[in-house]
Amino acid sequence: MKGIILAGGAGTRLYPATLTVSKQLMAVYDKPMIYYPLSVLMQAGIKEILIISTPQDLPNFMRLFGDGSQIGVRFEYAEQAAPNGLAEAFIIGDKFIGNDSVAMILGDNIFYSAGLEQLLETATKTKKGGHIFAVHVTDPERFGVVEFTKKGKVVSIEEKPEKPKSSYAVPGLYFYGPEVVKEAKKLKPSKRGELEITDLNKVFLKRGELTVTVLPRGLAWLDTGTHAAMNRAGNYVQIMQEMTDYNIACIEEIAYRKGWIGEKELKATIEKMGKSSYADYLRIVEKEVEGEG
Ligand code: DAU
Repeated sequence: MKGIILAGGAGTRLYPATLTVSKQLMAVYDKPMIYYPLSVLMQAGIKEILIISTPQDLPNFMRLFGDGSQIGVRFEYAEQAAPNGLAEAFIIGDKFIGNDSVAMILGDNIFYSAGLEQLLETATKTKKGGHIFAVHVTDPERFGVVEFTKKGKVVSIEEKPEKPKSSYAVPGLYFYGPEVVKEAKKLKPSKRGELEITDLNKVFLKRGELTVTVLPRGLAWLDTGTHAAMNRAGNYVQIMQEMTDYNIACIEEIAYRKGWIGEKELKATIEKMGKSSYADYLRIVEKEVEGEG
């Protein structure tokens, strides 16, 4: 399975903070925001990843991650000329996806849960159709909204409905079979002028090929849409990291524990991270894994 991180958009809701920096490169506590969605793809076992961003911002992502060998993955990069909608990612990613299944995650979506790998296990096996998720929220009108029958069957999906039919929002993590490219190319822009991922999901729903998994209560899906929400997300990460002694979205730790990189690569990153607490944490990981082995 291939992976796409969509990290474009203008970020106008966070101006002036995002006037010269891409939203997805802003720090959420101790690391750039994009580390969080990247860590989700890595935990899902995905090693071939396409990063899509604006022509202005893409060079910064390339500077940050390079070819990905330092974390045992392979990155490709592509521009999205204008924010034409989430579903455009599959058209831009046509060649990259080829005949594979693909997972797409939004570069500003932060998920945190113990046992995330197990939660994603079924979705990562998607060969045909789509597999998306639903999260209980208090403000569903801001999102794609899933309506269920009492028995849990999906009835409808609507994008930002004025009168939401449920409190279940669709978060920015989607899994599809390879036919998603063909289906994305058939979409017409919505009233807001975007190729909507919700329209794509409706196609699969109509065919009976859409699975929706409700995420458990213990899973945190952190909002980063406003300055206050960004601050809260940073505070959440700080508190969780300090209280559990484990870092969230430490991409080198994930790669090292999975055996995607060895001690040489880990040591190189520790060196590069200078006197930061991030480097201190990686030193602990190195010792711990040594002890286990
Ligand atoms: O966050 C989940 C929600 O994301 C879903 O519930 C909705 O169904 C889905 O449409 C989307 O909601 P928004 O329309 O509010 O997303 P927004 O415009 O904020 O874009 C999400 C991120 O994707 C944001 O960081 C900017 C980036 N983006 C957006 C568009 C439209 C791109 O990179 N390219 C784009 O063309």
